[in-house]
Amino acid sequence: MGQYNFDEIIDRRGTSCLKHDFGMERKGRDDLLPMWVADMDFRLPEEVIWDIQERVSHGIFGYTDPKQDYRDALRGWFKRRHGVEIMDEWNIITPGVVYAIATAVRALTSEGDSVLIQQPVYYPFREEIELNNRKVVNNRLLYKNGRYEIDFDDFERKVREEHVKLFILCSPHNPVGRVWSRDELKRMADICRENDVYVFADEIHADFVYEGFRHTSYLELGDEYRERLIIGTSPSKTFNIAGLQIVNILIPNKRVRDACRKENRAAGYSQCSAIGLTATISAYTKGDRWLDELIPYLEGNVNFVRAFLRENLPKVHLVEPEGTYLVWLDFSEVTQDPAVLKRLIVDKARLWLDSGRIFGGETALFERINIACPRAVVEQAFEQLYEAMSKQG
Ligand SMILES: Cc1ncc(COP(=O)(O)O)c(C=O)c1O
Repeated sequence: MGQYNFDEIIDRRGTSCLKHDFGMERKGRDDLLPMWVADMDFRLPEEVIWDIQERVSHGIFGYTDPKQDYRDALRGWFKRRHGVEIMDEWNIITPGVVYAIATAVRALTSEGDSVLIQQPVYYPFREEIELNNRKVVNNRLLYKNGRYEIDFDDFERKVREEHVKLFILCSPHNPVGRVWSRDELKRMADICRENDVYVFADEIHADFVYEGFRHTSYLELGDEYRERLIIGTSPSKTFNIAGLQIVNILIPNKRVRDACRKENRAAGYSQCSAIGLTATISAYTKGDRWLDELIPYLEGNVNFVRAFLRENLPKVHLVEPEGTYLVWLDFSEVTQDPAVLKRLIVDKARLWLDSGRIFGGETALFERINIACPRAVVEQAFEQLYEAMSKQG
């Protein structure tokens, strides 16, 4: 019996919660079970809530900057959880990882330059490239025997032929759930190094890795791979504090760091969220046990999904997640028509998932489901899907 109760169903409605409170605005209805945007339906550990409450009771929330206690907390977390040494001076703060990606795109590339991504991938990668008038180059992941792999030949060819300036890596990968091996990372890193490509390694999901797998931080590849590197990390996914708007961006090279700092300033961003800072320090110093219990719970949710599909819906294929709490489901054996799939998921099963369409053009027959919620909710979702598919015949 663990110390934390992840089975508790907490009503999030009425908190302006993006996941639960915006059905009418975003879907034109409010009867869908929301399992879309990547946040969790779990409360922070009490120890962290107390620290936030104490900070709130002070009553003054003026301009705030990180001090040594934040840097110590960050360094401690990366050392304990990932075996990685980080230097205090590497860190810059932004309100979000996506914000930092946009910053890097503007700071390190020029209009019209090529930026490489690996679709299907978290859709803001593409958006930030396009919104900043850069060219998206896609090294599509290969879907082989139900698992995703990197097409290294295509990666290298595109880097060279398209004169790629920046690669935005998703590690672990949202939505396909891969935790890239050291060998895979190194092969990509070598190509980037040989061709002077900057790398933005988005490691926001690094703390969610399942049994049998290990997240390799890009930092582990060695000093020679740090010259053109930006790492995006954040307590926002790990501890569900995206609404507190604080992330840790790590940039080992001073020239790259200065370029990103300047771009941040040009956008008018300077200080971080006071409550976000308190929450981050607290979570990174007191949150280990909570996370150690949460990961097996999430793994239990994945196990439920696997068993349920095998037994009841064998035509829906689970792409085995090695990490992240986002589960990628392949419906291509159920239908070849994205419109039929949409009707099935939304109108019949009454589920609010993220359609595979948004992660890149060729995955319209996939759906991404967020399983970071109490087991009973996951069970409910799959019962609704089962019922809808039974009716469908
Ligand atoms: C890969 C990835 N990067 C970034 C983000 C969002 O980061 P932020 O809210 O800090 O911009 C997400 C959220 O789902 C994500 O999956």
